[in-house]
Amino acid sequence: MSNYHIKNLEEYYQVYRKSVRNPELFWEEVAEEHFVWKKRWDRVLDYDFSKPEVKWFEGAQLNITENCIDRHLPSKADKTAIIFEPNNPDEPALHISYSELHERVCKFANVLKSKGIGKGDRVCIYLPMIPELAVALLACARIGAVHSVVFAGFSATALATRINDCEAKMVITADGSFRGNKTIDLKGIVDEALTTCGSVTTVLVAKRIDTEILMEEGRDAWLAPLLETAESDCPAEIMEAEDPLFILYTSGSTGSPKGMLHTTAGYMVYTAYTFKNVFNYKDGDIYWCTADIGWITGHSYIVYGPLANGATTVMFEGVPSYPDYGRFWEVVQKHKITQFYTAPTAIRALAKENLEFVNSYDLSSLKVLGTVGEPINEEAWHWYNDNVGKKKAPIVDTWWQTETGGMMISPIPFATPTKPTYATLPLPGVQLALMDEQGNEVVGNQVDGRLCVKFPWPSMARTIWGNHQRYKDTYFSAFDNAYFTGDGALRDEVGYYRITGRVDDVIIVSGHNLGTAPIEDAINEHPAVAESAIVGVPHDIKGNALYGYVILKETGEGRNHDNLRKEINQIITEHIGPIAKLDIIQFTPGLPKTRSGKIMRRILRKIAHNELDNLGDISTLLNPDIVEAIIRERMTPSVP
Ligand code: PRX
Repeated sequence: MSNYHIKNLEEYYQVYRKSVRNPELFWEEVAEEHFVWKKRWDRVLDYDFSKPEVKWFEGAQLNITENCIDRHLPSKADKTAIIFEPNNPDEPALHISYSELHERVCKFANVLKSKGIGKGDRVCIYLPMIPELAVALLACARIGAVHSVVFAGFSATALATRINDCEAKMVITADGSFRGNKTIDLKGIVDEALTTCGSVTTVLVAKRIDTEILMEEGRDAWLAPLLETAESDCPAEIMEAEDPLFILYTSGSTGSPKGMLHTTAGYMVYTAYTFKNVFNYKDGDIYWCTADIGWITGHSYIVYGPLANGATTVMFEGVPSYPDYGRFWEVVQKHKITQFYTAPTAIRALAKENLEFVNSYDLSSLKVLGTVGEPINEEAWHWYNDNVGKKKAPIVDTWWQTETGGMMISPIPFATPTKPTYATLPLPGVQLALMDEQGNEVVGNQVDGRLCVKFPWPSMARTIWGNHQRYKDTYFSAFDNAYFTGDGALRDEVGYYRITGRVDDVIIVSGHNLGTAPIEDAINEHPAVAESAIVGVPHDIKGNALYGYVILKETGEGRNHDNLRKEINQIITEHIGPIAKLDIIQFTPGLPKTRSGKIMRRILRKIAHNELDNLGDISTLLNPDIVEAIIRERMTPSVP
């Protein structure tokens, strides 16, 4: 029985049971079958959730880029590794073969070395979706540098926070980026960020929009001339299994962003395994994930997972609405995409447009459709299934997180019967548990609870960079001996899981995780604001929109509310980025608080949702009268 390409539900259960009965043996077989190792592991797994400490394939030595590139050269040198599809459909797509990728990565790695970057150094990558982005990740991995990609939609302040947290020595960026019919001044954002970053000594700049930019003498260098003269061979650094591969920041419900640290061997094995099984990947397929490499989805399922399988992976620079809402389908037709992986927010936005945008293109190449990042509602699921997959391409609703490194719950196409809004069953090796609020496991089916994972899986984040205690507190303290995901879930009568959403103060807006605390901190910087609280409200396209309750200081009280709303969103844009802007801002004289001073978000959420009949007991509040006042204010036409 092969662990790959599970063919039916019975085989899934067999593989799953095997993976639980003897996880070490299971992952050892996967690791042996598909990768090149410089040295074999001494031990498959060593772990202790109470510390927490997890080590996979200890003693093994490898380099992930040899597995993603060099290993394929004897048989696939001319095969396309990456198809770059530019923002502007009139610009030709670029096909980068495995041998070209090898050369590009080696040259880039030599440039990094020439700038003093070595094993263990952190390199911050702030690039648009151009080939240099994938190459930069791999070049870092080639020499053992730890990449930390920051999504190029984050503001200068957000970028600086991340650079400072990991003390990056270098930033790799571009002169700018294209986004639909706009251009964005990336280098200007980097320059602004670096005024507060002491650790950065070098900035490498890729040319994309070909505009005049300022280059700081001694610090900034254009990438192209350096690549031109660099040697085209670079031996791969030998890495230990648990050596860091990358840091990727994700929002927490409180405090600064968390730098999730992923290590080498387990991450490689798990992302490659899940890519192949969940997308039913076969040689010759053309796979496209529309995510940005700035998020974990892009790391694991644009770069590492596909390349570790010798696949052809598409990098799309553009947006779904440019030049029109048919763009995704035009790209599917053009490159004969076989697997298409996107987010519910994109599906909802496209479903609102004329169906002609879909029907004008030939989508018959599609075999598997995927979704990720947030719960998919039933309507969007059916629209995707009917109009894109024509009811023939199974939808894999994949649940996972930045922290998990790879997919955790998903149907296996052609094996697991799908069910709208359900991520269905745990993937092999993933041991889930639902817990009640008292910390007891809820057993049986037709139950709900807090979603936890009871046993280590190879691609789990090992720590929060520089703050192991926070890692322990956030993920391993709510329940004994289990990783807590922060999500709620229910298990139906056949054991299928449905993710019901976050149970902490993280709100997912258009598939992006946003912590309420950092946004509130930004709002509170406004000189007229005394205090604020953010909640999520359902939104047709974005899944959730942000609703802010803001208390003004006396100095702000006479001011025009519309102007204040604009200023508050401006501050949020500067501190975090435009993705965190509030849709609705309600000015209020106070916030409901418990006697210990905690804001009662449950009540604020209900008011924002207009669920006024069912506010629960408010008599124990410190200030019950405020609830009436907030409701009255909510009903006035001045609250948009
Ligand atoms: O709440 C879950 C939601 O996204 C969160 C993780 O976000 P992030 O770390 O940004 O990673 C997103 C891409 C892997 C989860 O805690 N989420 C992710 N996938 C799904 C989902 N919610 C429901 N269904 C999904 N398929």
